[in-house]
Amino acid sequence: MDPDVLGNGFDPTVPNAARMYDYFLGGKDNLPADRVAAEQVLRYVPEIPIGIRENREFLVRAVRFLAERGIRQFLDIGAGLPTQRNVHEVAREHAPDARTVYVDNDPQVLAHARALLQDTPLVRVVEGDLRRPQDILNNRELREHLDFSQPIAVLLLAIMHFIPDSDHPAAIIAQIRGALAPGSHMAISHVAADARPEVAPGVEKVYQNASAQFVARMTGEIAPFFEGLDLVEPGMVNLHDWRPDNPFIDPSIERTKAYFLCGVGRVSPSRADG
Ligand SMILES: C[S@@+](CC[C@H](N)C(=O)[O-])C[C@H]1O[C@@H](n2cnc3c(N)ncnc32)[C@H](O)[C@@H]1O
Repeated sequence: MDPDVLGNGFDPTVPNAARMYDYFLGGKDNLPADRVAAEQVLRYVPEIPIGIRENREFLVRAVRFLAERGIRQFLDIGAGLPTQRNVHEVAREHAPDARTVYVDNDPQVLAHARALLQDTPLVRVVEGDLRRPQDILNNRELREHLDFSQPIAVLLLAIMHFIPDSDHPAAIIAQIRGALAPGSHMAISHVAADARPEVAPGVEKVYQNASAQFVARMTGEIAPFFEGLDLVEPGMVNLHDWRPDNPFIDPSIERTKAYFLCGVGRVSPSRADG
């Protein structure tokens, strides 16, 4: 990673959740501390890069689905480091007028995203912490770019498992949902511990010293995050089961149990009013 985009005040010895994710994806935007922590996670869950690739493929299918449904505004919270096939690129393949706002709370992600995307039309990069959803919703730049009287697709992909129960993750989602116009949608993905509960404490421990702390949850704890949404078929399912368009299924993941759940839903009219 180019140190120039990292700015002052960052500690290179702290593993960074976004850069660890980049490492899992095979990217180059990571530092030694990220790689050490990521390798520790890989010892517990060697198949994690497959799950993460499937998460990016879900992102592509979900954004395409939403654009085909007529959504022209995308709010990607916990956007991560720009990689291949980012939300605005997929959206604009189907809707050239689509507007995208990327939100993240990580200074390195923001610096990197701004460096790469600042001249991209119809794209904004905004600082925001999902644990303070009202600040995100009130952000001036975000409000100037997205029209909250029109449908918006909010993407919460691979971020909710960094929000601890003490921050009331379901209430955070409800607050965002309540600010959206009728016709708006949400897409959510969340690692599920059902397939490998025995490794969950070890993975949580690795992230304890990282920039964001991973929370292992079981299906029953993740399902409430989808409340208030009219989920489109097939509902809340493992990533590879959500409207798959690629017949190849990597055999190294235990697929009979939940390992990485996702879903896309329309904000229920009663909730959108709230
Ligand atoms: C695992 S990456 C996911 C990237 C992308 N959404 C995806 O699914 O490919 C998680 C991202 O969420 C960000 N993040 C973690 N906690 C956050 C918070 N409280 N507020 C905003 N962003 C957060 C991290 O900085 C990181 O960029």
